[in-house]
Amino acid sequence: MSDRRFLITAGLPYSNNRLHVGHIAGAYLPADIYVRYLRACGDDVRFICGSDDNGVAALKSAREMGISVEELTAKYNASQQESFAGLGIEFDIYGGTHQPEFVKTHERLSQAFFKKIHDKGYFTKRTTRQLYDTEAEQFLPDRFVKGTCPTCKSTSAHGDQCEDCGRAMDQVDLIDPVSTMTGSTPELRETTHWFLRLDQLQEPLANWLRSKKRSSECGASWRDIVINQSLGRIEAEGLPERAMTRDMSWGIPVPLDDPDAKGKVLYVWFDAPIGYVSFTEELCQRNGEGEGGYKDWWMNPDCKIVNFIGEDNIVFHAITFPAMMLATHDSENTQGDRGEFQLPHNVVANAFVNFKMPGKDEEKMSKSRGTAVWIEDYLESYDPDPLRYYLTAIAPEQQRSAFEFDDFLTRNNGELLAALGNLINRTMTFAHKYFDGKIPQAGNREQIDLDQLQACKDIAQRTANALEECRFKTAQDEMMSLARAGNVYFDTTKPFKTRKTDMNECGTAINVCLQTARTLTTIMAPFLPSSATKCLRMLQLDEKAFMWNTACEPLPDGHELGEAEYLVKKLDVLQE
Ligand code: MF3
Ligand code: ZN
Repeated sequence: MSDRRFLITAGLPYSNNRLHVGHIAGAYLPADIYVRYLRACGDDVRFICGSDDNGVAALKSAREMGISVEELTAKYNASQQESFAGLGIEFDIYGGTHQPEFVKTHERLSQAFFKKIHDKGYFTKRTTRQLYDTEAEQFLPDRFVKGTCPTCKSTSAHGDQCEDCGRAMDQVDLIDPVSTMTGSTPELRETTHWFLRLDQLQEPLANWLRSKKRSSECGASWRDIVINQSLGRIEAEGLPERAMTRDMSWGIPVPLDDPDAKGKVLYVWFDAPIGYVSFTEELCQRNGEGEGGYKDWWMNPDCKIVNFIGEDNIVFHAITFPAMMLATHDSENTQGDRGEFQLPHNVVANAFVNFKMPGKDEEKMSKSRGTAVWIEDYLESYDPDPLRYYLTAIAPEQQRSAFEFDDFLTRNNGELLAALGNLINRTMTFAHKYFDGKIPQAGNREQIDLDQLQACKDIAQRTANALEECRFKTAQDEMMSLARAGNVYFDTTKPFKTRKTDMNECGTAINVCLQTARTLTTIMAPFLPSSATKCLRMLQLDEKAFMWNTACEPLPDGHELGEAEYLVKKLDVLQE
C-alpha cells in the first residue's frame, strides 16, 4: 500500500528521574501520534527510544540516593517504561545506554563511531584547563557548573548551555562559575581531551541546514525554532571545537590506545544519540535480522529519519550529532548515501510546557519547587486519553505553553466530552434504542446528509495533511471539528423528533451519524488510541479500520453494533 520507510526517534530521557507532563508534551506524545499515523498509512516504521544512562547526572543522583548508578538507572528506566505504557506511547524498543541488555552493543557502536571520526582526523587532542572541584576532588562536568552567560548575562546558565538564550557553552566561558556539586568555587586545572572539529564541519552543516529551511518536499520543512537555534547560531557565531571526552568513571571508555585516554569516557552527548543507532541494532537482532541490521535504517536513503525532541536538545540534534555523522563520511560524499550515516529528514522540536497554578504566574516545571505533574501520579487517577488530548491541544509547537489543571478539566469536560464523547454516545444509544443495535437503512439522502458525508472525507484529508507536516495541534483540531460537525448535523436533522414522524428519515440521520463515528474512529486513533479502540468495539470493527484509507468506507445497512460504552468520562478535581 505504501513504500515509505521511517525511523522515528524520541529524545532519550535521563534515567535519574521520573517523567513529567513536560517531557511527554515535548517529544514523546507527538512522536507517538506521528508513528501511529504513519502505520495507519501502511508505512514501514520503527519507533526507537530508551534511557540516557551515562553522564554525571546519573552519578550525582546515585550518590545522593546512596545506591549504585546501575541500580539507579535500572530503576528509572523501568519507571519510564511504565509511564510510557500507561499513556499508550508504544516504542518498538526501549533501550538504555547502560542497561545490561544494551550496553555491549551500545559500547561497540559508540566506540566504533568515535574511532572512525578519530581516523578521519576530525578530532584535535588538546590539553586545556578545566574547572576542578577541590572538595569533590574531580573535574566538573559542564552540567555541574553554573554561572553567568557571557552572551545574555543570564545568571542561571549551565556549563553546557544557556537555557535562556540557547547558546552552547564551554564551561570556562561562564562568568563567576560555581560548582553545583558542592557549592564551592572551582579552580582551573589542566587535562587532555579530544575535540570535535566543528569549525571544519560547519560549511557542509550550514549548507545542509539551509536546504531544510524551505523544503518543497512534504513534511520536510523544519520548524523555525530548530532552524534559528542551529543555522542561526552557525551564521551568527560560527562553531568552536567541542570536547567529546570527559574525566569520569561512569560511561563509555574512550577507545584509544593512548595513555592520555586512560580513565576517560565519551561525553554523554556523544554516546547518547548513538543510542538511537545501537537500540535500532538491538531491535534488528531481536527481530532476527542479523548483525548490522541497523544499516538498512541508518544508511539507506530510502528510510527517512525523524527525531522528536524538546527545545533544549536542538543544538545537539541539529548541529552536534549531524556533525558527528558528517565527520564519519568520506569527504567527497556528504549525502550519506554510500554506506554512511544519513542525516535526519526532520528534527521536530517543541518548546517547553510550563506549569501554572491558579492566580500565579507560569513557572518552569521543576522537581524541587513541586511544579511538575508526574505521569505516575497522573495515571493513578486518570485515563491516558484526557492527558493526550490536553497536551496536544496546548502543544508548544510555536512557543511555550502552560499546563493548568483547571484548564485540563475544562477541556476534557467542555471539548472532549461535550463534542466527541457526546456525538458517539448519543448516536450509539439512539441506534440501540430505536434501531435494534443495527445500522439503519441509508434511505434517501438529501443535501444535508450528503454534505455531512463529504465533511467526513474533507476533514479526514485535512487531518492527514496536518499530520504529514507534523502540525499535531492543528491535526487534532481538525479531527475535533468533525465531531462538532456531527453534533450540528444531529441537532439539525433532529432524529429525536423524526422518530415520531418519519422513521425512514430518522434512520437516514442515524446512519450518517454512524458513518461519521466510523470516520472519527480512524482519525482519532493517533491522538486517542484507547478511545478509538472503544469505538472499534462499539462499531464492531477490527483493527484494519485504523488504516487511514478505510476512514470513509461506508458501514453497510444492517451492520450489527456492539454495546454502547462511555467514550469520555466527566472529570472532577479529584477522582478517587
Ligand atoms: N537525555 C537528554 C535530555 O533529556 C536527551 C538525550 S537525546 C540523545 O535532555 F539523542 F542524545 F539521546
Ligand atoms: Zn544566555
